[in-house]
Amino acid sequence: MANLSDVKRIVENKLSSSSHDLEHTMRVYGLAQRIAATIEGVDLEVLGLATLLHDIARVLEDTDKTGSVDHAILGAEMASEILKTLDFPEEVINKVIHCIQTHRFRGNKLPESIEAKILSDADKLDAIGAIGVGRAFMIAGEYGEPLYKTFDHEQYSTNILNNGRIKEFKEHSPNIEFEVKLKYIPDRLYTEEAKRIAKERVEFMEDFFERLEKEIKGEA
Ligand SMILES: [Fe+2]
Ligand SMILES: [Fe+2]
Repeated sequence: MANLSDVKRIVENKLSSSSHDLEHTMRVYGLAQRIAATIEGVDLEVLGLATLLHDIARVLEDTDKTGSVDHAILGAEMASEILKTLDFPEEVINKVIHCIQTHRFRGNKLPESIEAKILSDADKLDAIGAIGVGRAFMIAGEYGEPLYKTFDHEQYSTNILNNGRIKEFKEHSPNIEFEVKLKYIPDRLYTEEAKRIAKERVEFMEDFFERLEKEIKGEA
């Protein structure tokens, strides 16, 4: 029967976006294992497969001009096909589908199984801390966002589409992403271990963006 490394090889060829590349997937994998080690009864096969496959449709969402592709929904379908081809049991496949469908921050479906909660937590942790700062700027570069933009809540809300995606990327920036999304990540986590890691990572980001604002304003 196929194993995790077979799945990793397949995933490698499908991830190309630099902020959601194989390195992101493998960091999430490491974080998921770290969290799982603090909880009893986690199905490590389901968690491992779901983690490796969770962003498989990300490139398709990023390159979709219509804004209708949801990488969590499409990714779950693609993962299911891959695992069927590799002869994984239907029970495992269904559990993996649930994890992938519910991992997206702006999605409507919430994780119910412990494996889905761990994947969701691990994925969000990779968006904060020093890695989070780095990734926020990588994503900004991919979309042509400015380095810094003064945050105005009203202005921001007019720049969001119904499906939660950004309308005009030149009106968005990493510090706005921190203000509206990243700093609230600790409130959206399920596991105690992830909450502990997140608290410290967000404190670091607060300091970074405060300092950035000072330099932008010529005060440092
Ligand atoms: Fe994702
Ligand atoms: Fe991810």
